[in-house]
Amino acid sequence: MRVLVTGATSGIGRAVAFQLAALGHELVFTARDGEKARTTLGELVRETANDRISYHVVDLASQRAIRMFLDDFKSRYETLDVLVNNAGILMFTRELTVDGLEATFAGNHLAYFMLGNGLVDMMPKGGRIINVSSVAEQQGRIDFANLQGEIGYTGMKSYANSKLANLLFTYEFARRLGPDPRVTVNALHPGGVRTAIGDNNRGVAAVIWKTIKSFFHGAERGAETPVYLAVSPDVANVTGGYFADRMMRRSSARSHDAALAARFWEASEALVRVPA
Ligand SMILES: NC(=O)c1ccc[n+]([C@@H]2O[C@H](COP(=O)([O-])OP(=O)(O)OC[C@H]3O[C@@H](n4cnc5c(N)ncnc54)[C@H](OP(=O)(O)O)[C@@H]3O)[C@@H](O)[C@H]2O)c1
Repeated sequence: MRVLVTGATSGIGRAVAFQLAALGHELVFTARDGEKARTTLGELVRETANDRISYHVVDLASQRAIRMFLDDFKSRYETLDVLVNNAGILMFTRELTVDGLEATFAGNHLAYFMLGNGLVDMMPKGGRIINVSSVAEQQGRIDFANLQGEIGYTGMKSYANSKLANLLFTYEFARRLGPDPRVTVNALHPGGVRTAIGDNNRGVAAVIWKTIKSFFHGAERGAETPVYLAVSPDVANVTGGYFADRMMRRSSARSHDAALAARFWEASEALVRVPA
């Protein structure tokens, strides 16, 4: 099975990559930093004795970089069995991407949206798309007049919104692919996991966040649910689900608002459309 994991140089994605490689699957991972990617590749091959591992350096906050990656990926491989959309960020100050979009919204949601839509056609029957969301989605809101966080930005708010976006995307994608789909789409909360997320920030909020994270569990445990969704026969025919601790869970009422999800899909599509 060929598996693509985004953001495998740290935290949950790294642990997912190790677990899937150890199971013998062909692994392709993305990284934003070439040096970190090379180191991770070396460690993966050495520690899992799997030599079918490769990486692509891609900045998932850049639509151009994502498009180039998609072209490159499709030219190298005929099929993809599993996509794990995992790479994510938490930014306590508002920053813009090269496309002029708020970085959390772009990296945490639009990248998932572009990769899912860009790769689904090369996934055979039984293909699986897995979106790493978070229980933080419960605090999320979709304000179409403020998708880029221009008004009242806080890192936690933007992060929660992006994790709600992951669920709206998951459920809408599953609805669009139909009840007996070739490719399933599911989302998950990995638990509170002690990773590098948010470590790029400075100031009081960053210190508080680091303290909170010190109580979280390790990345291996955080990888359990994504790996379960990637390989378990138990979920082969499950689509449009939300999981935590390898069990189906109920996400917020807002995440199940189909009209909101459909409108949000259109808004996302408009934001990733290549200008004519
Ligand atoms: N940790 C938690 O408690 C928790 C809880 C719920 C959900 N999650 C979710 O779990 C996922 C993974 O987070 P994590 O906690 O494992 O964080 P992490 O340790 O910071 O790992 C994030 C990964 O994403 C990559 N990444 C970030 N921005 C990128 C960009 N613009 N382009 C390409 N790659 C990029 C990072 O690359 P670098 O190595 O170069 O930084 C890293 O490999 C996220 O979606 C997060 O929302 C985490």
